[in-house]
This record gives sequence, C-alpha cells and structure tokens, in this order.
Amino acid sequence: MKRIKIVLVSIFTLIIVTVYGQNKTLWLDELDMNKVESGWIMSKSKTSTDGNTFTIAGQKFERGIGTHAISRFMLYLNKKGVRFTAQVGVDDESKGGSVQFYLLGDRKIIWESGLMKSDDPAKTIDVKLKGIKKLAFLVTDGNDGIAHDHADWCNAKLEYKGKDCPEFVSQKLSQSANYILTPKPAKTPRINGAKITGASNGKPFQYLIAASGLRPMSFTAENLPQGLSLDTTTGIISGKVVNDGEYDVKITAKNDKGTDTRNLRIVIGKDKLCLTPPMGWNSWNCWGLSVSEEKVKASADAMIASGLIDHGWTYVNIDDGWEGSKRKRNGDITTNEKFPDMKCLVDYIHSKGLKMGIYSSPGEHTCGGYLGSFGYEEQDARIYAQWGIDYLKYDWCTYWDKVDPKPELSAIKKPYIIMKKALEKQNRDIVHSLCQCGLGNVWEWGKEVGQLWRTTDDITDTWESMYSNGFSQYHNTQYAKPGNWNDPDMLVVGKVGWNSTMHDSRLTADEQYTHLSLWCLLSAPLLIGADMSQMDEFTINLLTNDEVIGINQDPLGKQARRLSKDNDIEIWVKDLEDGSKAVGLFYIAESKKAENSFVWEKNPVKSTAKIKVTWSDLGISGKHIVRDLWRQKDLGKYAGKFEIEVPYHGVVLLKITKASSSD
Ligand code: GLA
Repeated sequence: MKRIKIVLVSIFTLIIVTVYGQNKTLWLDELDMNKVESGWIMSKSKTSTDGNTFTIAGQKFERGIGTHAISRFMLYLNKKGVRFTAQVGVDDESKGGSVQFYLLGDRKIIWESGLMKSDDPAKTIDVKLKGIKKLAFLVTDGNDGIAHDHADWCNAKLEYKGKDCPEFVSQKLSQSANYILTPKPAKTPRINGAKITGASNGKPFQYLIAASGLRPMSFTAENLPQGLSLDTTTGIISGKVVNDGEYDVKITAKNDKGTDTRNLRIVIGKDKLCLTPPMGWNSWNCWGLSVSEEKVKASADAMIASGLIDHGWTYVNIDDGWEGSKRKRNGDITTNEKFPDMKCLVDYIHSKGLKMGIYSSPGEHTCGGYLGSFGYEEQDARIYAQWGIDYLKYDWCTYWDKVDPKPELSAIKKPYIIMKKALEKQNRDIVHSLCQCGLGNVWEWGKEVGQLWRTTDDITDTWESMYSNGFSQYHNTQYAKPGNWNDPDMLVVGKVGWNSTMHDSRLTADEQYTHLSLWCLLSAPLLIGADMSQMDEFTINLLTNDEVIGINQDPLGKQARRLSKDNDIEIWVKDLEDGSKAVGLFYIAESKKAENSFVWEKNPVKSTAKIKVTWSDLGISGKHIVRDLWRQKDLGKYAGKFEIEVPYHGVVLLKITKASSSD
C-alpha cells in the first residue's frame, strides 16, 4: 500500500514538474500577426515586412517577426515569464530607416536599443522576466517619421513556466463597439455636396446634384450657363461652357415629401479645378495591387447603393496595378488583363454621374513595379483623356534613379511640370494629384503644378499612423486654398487590407470620428480607402454626415489651424464662409514616453478629458450657438467659453455661430 502511495505521489510530482516546472518556449513568430500593430501594412511572421528573409547589416536570420514602426503589442505573462532573447535591427530591404526598440515590463523600460539606423548591426536582447505581469514590445520611428522603418525582431523567443501560453493584451482603452452618432438622413430632399465647382472653358463639364431623400426625385436648375444641360431624373449637369465666368445656378430637388433649393456656383476659367477638396474612393488601401475592373465597378455600384453618392462622394480612383507589362509598338500605355476595357469602364462610371481617377509614376516604374510614365508623359496623358479620365495621382517612385540623392528643388519639380503641361494639352480637365510625400516642401510650390499634393508618408489603420499624418499638418495651413489642398493621405475606415489580410480598420470608433473630423477641418481630400461593397452601418453613417462633410467642402477653402496643443489635448479651428467657426476638441492623450504607448493594469490615461475652448482664443465675443456636428444637435447658447467631456482618442466637433441679437 505504502509503495503504491509512493508511486502515485511520484507520478503526480512528475506530471506537475513536466507541466508546470519546465520552461517552455514561445517564438514570437508563432503569434497571431493580426494582433501585432504595425505602422504600415501588416506585421509578418518569419519574414521581413516586404516578405524577405530577415537581413540586418548583411546578417541573415530565419525566425522572428517583421514589423514596421510604429509597432506595438503586449503579452500577458502573469509572472510566468523567465527570459526573453532576440536580435533586433532595421532590415536591409529598406534604406534610410531609423527606429528605436523598447521592451517594457509593467510600465518600466527593461531594455531599449537606442537609435538604430539602416546598416547598423543587430543588437542582442537577453533579459530576465521574473515577476513581470505584462510585457510590452514597442518600435518607435526614431522621431523622424515612419518612412523606411522596417523593424525586425529576429530569433525572438520567450521562455515561460506553467501551462498557459502568454496571450495578447488588448490595447484599446475606449469601447471597441462602433457606436453611431449621426441621425439617418430625412426622407425630404436635402441637397448636399460641393456648393461651388469649376472647369476650363470648352472642356467637358460634369456635376451630379447630390441629394439625400426618398426616391424618385426630380431636379431643376435655373440660370445654367450656355452649353450645359441638366438630366432632370438623374441630376447630372453636363456639357461644355464656352465663356469664362461665374454662374450662380439655382438648383432644386423635389420628391413626394417636399423640395429643397440651393445655389450652385459654377466657375469657368483657367485653374478652376477642385475648388473644394476632392471626395471619393481610391483602391489602394483595400485592394493594393490586386485591383481589377470588377472591383472598381463593384465599388462604384456600392457608392450608389449605399447612398454615399447622395452626399457628394464622386471620384472612383484606380491606384497602382492597372498597367500592362509592355507598351504598344507606338509607345501607347496598355492595361493588364484585370482591366480589359478601360474606356468602357470609364463610360460606365460617368453614366452614373461619378468621375474616374487613375495612377502613374514619373519614373520608369511605379511603386508597385508596373510601367511608369517616364519619357511617355504626353502620350500617357493623351490616352487618359481618350479614356475619359478625370484625375491623375502621380507618384515619385523610381524617379530617384533620375535625380541626385539630394536633388535640387528644380529637379524635384521637373516631372510634375512635364505632366502638368501634358495634362493641360488634353481636351478634357484632368486633376493633377501629386504623391511624393512632401519632398522639397511640396506645399510651398505644389500649386504651380497641380491641385493637391501628398504631405506625408503612406497612412495605415493605426492610431499612431493616423495621428502622425493628420495632426502634423499645422505647419502647412497657409498653403491650402480653393483649388489647392494638402493631402495627408486616404481614409483608413471600414474594411482595409492593401490586399493582404482584409480586416476592419483597427481604429476604434472614437479614433475614426477623430480621423474624419480632422480631415474635414484640414480641408484634406476625402478618399475612402475601404472595400465599399462591405461597408457596415457604422462606416456608412460615418461617411454620410452632411454637416461634417460640409466643413470639408466649405467654399471659403481654409485649412484649420491648431489653436492649442499640450500632451493630452489639441484644439483646431477652421473659419467658414458664413462667418462661423468649426472647432475640433481632440483628446489625443499623446505622449512621447514609451510607457504611455500602452494600456497597463492601472492605466494612467483617463477615459475622458474635459476640454475647454474660450471665445477670446477663437477671436470672438458675445453669445454664440454651439452645435455638435456629429450628433447634428445644438448644445445651447454660450458666452465666453464652452467646455465638454471628450472621449479618449476621440473628438467633439463643433460649429460655433454668432447668435442673432433676437436670440
Ligand atoms: C505609394 C503611394 C501609395 C500607393 C502606392 C502604389 O506608396 O504613396 O499611396 O499609391 O505607391 O504603389
């Protein structure tokens, strides 16, 4: 009996020791990469961000994870961690990156790399994890933006005790449920969209009267300039105007429930394109290089079916990935098999009252490795015009081969001057949208060559990326005006994925309200990066608030300026045509401290902040009506100041209008 007891105890002890006593190993590359936040595309297991074997200063590694700054994630160790080892650095595939790696345990930095640049040899991490509950991994952008920041955690593995494998800790402080703020559009007609639009004389004009409300709806337009006509059932105004001038047209939308009337100013003359920021969709953030005619058509159809078209969304823009592998003998650009008939596709888009955009690059190749326009600019512009293209996004990739590593300003401008001239020669207006990420302070001279210009690196669907692209736009405020816009990149809402893993935007609801509010205040182009055919109720609601869109499309065309900023709060204000002000109160809870990038056990970050804006800071006095634009609701009349609670990473977007003396 005693012997049996001893044997049983020994077996039991053996089981305990085997299960709990021995260290186990978790390789980081065994984790779910969807949960490893990355500042650009998705993090990768066992390869670098671009899908290559890890290589740091020539040294190759087989295992690990490839991330892109700013990247972060947290694991719950529950004091079961023993040791973490890895070799880290900037991958050789990206020249010019600079990052900082951090490892934090329960709010304390337990290892940091210091600034690491491309070509720096890998640094070794070997740390003990005794007593740590939460282990956080962070790669920052080295304080110079995220461009080229391909950060590898090679041979990264964690030893731990016990049977439970460390799990991810969610980093979302605000509620993840997408909550809806805006009431549904009324059944009565309401005319939305741009109140001013322009074109060159003698070139095709097209404008769709965007109106929400019950269908069928009919339209009228009084005082149309000679050469234009209105389709009274679709609301499409088209034709060609021969004489320069400004025409005030009275447009009316009518249905069974009522009518709505508004003034539309049509401006005909030179340099009159994009008098308000372009609004539409672009294929890149969802489809990447896998874009096809089918997907573009489905997006246009969804723009109509979801009702977005009734709120001013107009452009359907194909990004990189449509080009053929070889030009024709005569040098004409070709499409690849995914776009069998571009002219037919464009005709389809136009027939719906929408406009069509396309993409190219001034180098021999585009960023995606397709044919670029170098040496064929005029021929390409001619083909675009023949197809009926309305908008060209013109990149920079591979044009580096044509210039010095530190090019003069004249060399930076050159390809855009060439393309501007080529576009102007065509028999139709084509918007020129520059995409060289701010090179040569493009905001200072972009107006000489185009209507809009990218000011930042590519955006991705993380708070860090959206924050850094959007809130950095305080330095270029003065350069935005009707016809010329700073472009902090496209909207990362709805389902995005760059054709890798299609997923819901990782921005929380509050972060998405912040994103839209800020882009509207900034008079930024609004180009939806989502798969339009999969938009949920939240996304549609987010994109169809006419009062919020109205801030973006305000005819005065001012860009908001940053009124104040501290570590936690930013206030931005935009002057509007009617004398009122749009004000964004943002609780950014931002801090450069590594430990504040994470949600810890006892989070130091409050879930709401009280934000106050004073009339003296806004340069106004007396009683003002304060309206909450997301809720489309007046909050009351205030004198001197207004104060409100704002959610973490969220916004309250206000319109502040002088109360009339009778109010
Ligand atoms: C660059 C641009 C992106 C997209 C891709 C296409 O990265 O910044 O917006 O157009 O090229 O290859």
